[in-house]
Amino acid sequence: MLEMLKKIQKDNVTLEVLEYLISTNKYDNEILSFADEIRKKYVGDEIHIRAIIEFSNYCKMDCLYCGLRAPNNKIKRYRMSPDEIFRRAKLISEKNIKTIVLQSGEDPYYTTEIIEKLIKRIKSLNVAITLSIGERDFKEYKIWKDAGADRYLMRHETADEELYNNLHPHDTFENRKKHLFKLKELGYEVGAGCMVGLPGQGARELAKDLLFLKELDSDMIGIGPFIPNPNTPLKNAKGGDLKLTLKIIALARILIPTANIPATTAMGSLHPFGRQMALKSGANVIMPNLTPNPYRPHYTLYPNKICLFEVDTSCIECVKGMIKDLKRKVGQTYGFRVKVS
Ligand code: SAM
Ligand code: SF4
Ligand code: FES
Repeated sequence: MLEMLKKIQKDNVTLEVLEYLISTNKYDNEILSFADEIRKKYVGDEIHIRAIIEFSNYCKMDCLYCGLRAPNNKIKRYRMSPDEIFRRAKLISEKNIKTIVLQSGEDPYYTTEIIEKLIKRIKSLNVAITLSIGERDFKEYKIWKDAGADRYLMRHETADEELYNNLHPHDTFENRKKHLFKLKELGYEVGAGCMVGLPGQGARELAKDLLFLKELDSDMIGIGPFIPNPNTPLKNAKGGDLKLTLKIIALARILIPTANIPATTAMGSLHPFGRQMALKSGANVIMPNLTPNPYRPHYTLYPNKICLFEVDTSCIECVKGMIKDLKRKVGQTYGFRVKVS
């Protein structure tokens, strides 16, 4: 089996082989431990901490799975002002965290200029900036890159075209792909990724996700379980499985060895040690929640999201403790993707 895993890491892997590995449980332990070895070999023992500020939960989109979708009137909407966002970023930089992730729903209230000015201000704090604000105009991506943004997170969600189009009434997979490749072309480090356990998604669809991540040569890969939200059309769906999600994370590490792969919040929300397990199966990044109160509990993508009632900044100490318990090291750099010559 080890030979087969070495082969899929080095050579072009087929959809059929990936589909087989995903559908059988026979080799799960080997896949997870091989991914951990590959992680150690290519990106080392450092775990990079990226602090996330969820600055607005307004969203004009209606992704069927997400609690922030526009038609959901069961949540209290909020927007942080640019000053509030900057103050938070400053606090984070003073705690020696080197990356700030600015995340929101697709919220046109934040114009090209507002985001541009914010990037310039936050850049003065000597941090890397990741944007995760959905699909915007190609011109805006360029302006924000020029202003100093380093990375852009926008999951491809699912690489099965029909499923993508069903889940996104106002978007197509073709379009999502165009955005991701454009961001790459502009020089961003790009983060794609998918949910595991979407209704209608099986081994073949997940194999397509992995092949897509490889085709994009995704610099960052966010993979988490789908967790059904009672205020969405998918409220009765089954949702993602921990073991299967771990295996998809591990396969992503094997196929794209130098990518930065977070142990996602959704993993921690599904299982109390979900993030630790991900960090032992190929992941090398953790994204503590630094959204200030009173906003934090209102960024409800799915139920039982962790860290909601913690003291505002305690997630930083919490993830440092987690890294220590795992006998790994806190990343001291900006944590850009390592280049292999
Ligand atoms: N609006 C931006 C976007 O869609 O790229 C950024 C914020 S969006 C809430 C971040 C991610 O949350 C999405 O890419 C999606 O994969 C994830 N998400 C949304 N609803 C979810 C759910 N019910 N379970 C698990 N993950 C979910
Ligand atoms: Fe909006 Fe992002 Fe949620 Fe889709 S996933 S509804 S774009 S916040
Ligand atoms: Fe938020 Fe542990 S990371 S409390």
